[in-house]
Amino acid sequence: MKIIMLGAPGAGKGTQAKLIAEKYRIPHISTGDIFRANIKNGTELGREAKKYMDQGLLVPDELTVKILLDRVSQEDCGNGYVLDGFPRTIPQAQVLEEALNKLGEKIDYAIDVDVPDENIVRRMSGRRACLKCGATYHLEHIPPKKEGVCDVCGSNLVLRDDDQPETVKNRLKVYHEQTQPLIDFYTKKGVLRTVDGTQDMQDVFRMITEILD
Ligand code: AP5
Ligand code: MG
Repeated sequence: MKIIMLGAPGAGKGTQAKLIAEKYRIPHISTGDIFRANIKNGTELGREAKKYMDQGLLVPDELTVKILLDRVSQEDCGNGYVLDGFPRTIPQAQVLEEALNKLGEKIDYAIDVDVPDENIVRRMSGRRACLKCGATYHLEHIPPKKEGVCDVCGSNLVLRDDDQPETVKNRLKVYHEQTQPLIDFYTKKGVLRTVDGTQDMQDVFRMITEILD
């Protein structure tokens, strides 16, 4: 099963993608997590990506597409995957579609996690992220068992550099301009499903499993 998570920054794509990956035993692939891991490890790719990410802008398609196509061609992707944060532009979606076409494959579902902008800024300021394993928490809604420490791998939790309120506003603007058109794109392909992302995390997941099962 090949699934794409759509939705504004902070809508809960990553949170739901992790749950999907566990339940359906497919890899969770987040381009944002790949970039953050590269920044943390001080790679050339990380340095390049950081210039854009810190301003809330998209990393150029040339860089992003290559990384994603490499990743989905790995062996663990044989039974499908859940993409979180890719595609984010129409050209990215077209490249992915062409690559899949060549293999006689297609995207099965594009799930739009729908959350209004008003809720987003509040969510982001409470988010804490693990840069080691990619786990995400929220100080109020989904707190870690021990304050400041990742439940999964025990690393320290941080406020992401791009979660400052000004940067979040930019990310929302970029989302509406460049990513939202994908909703129309996948509606026309007949694979778009929308879930109400303002509900409780487990309720959102239940709606998603009803679609996928
Ligand atoms: P990326 O890492 O993908 O960030 P994003 O899309 O902005 O999304 P977020 O990760 O911020 O939010 P999310 O939807 O995953 O929400 P989460 O589950 O954490 O990308 C970062 C940057 O990398 C981009 O700005 C860009 O520069 C670059 N980039 C990445 N991919 C790219 C691409 N394809 N092309 C170009 N550039 C690219 O949830 C948010 C918070 O809410 C958490 O605290 C969570 O615990 C909480 N929460 C989740 N669900 C609920 C709920 N139901 N109720 C209450 N709280 C909840
Ligand atoms: Mg995320």
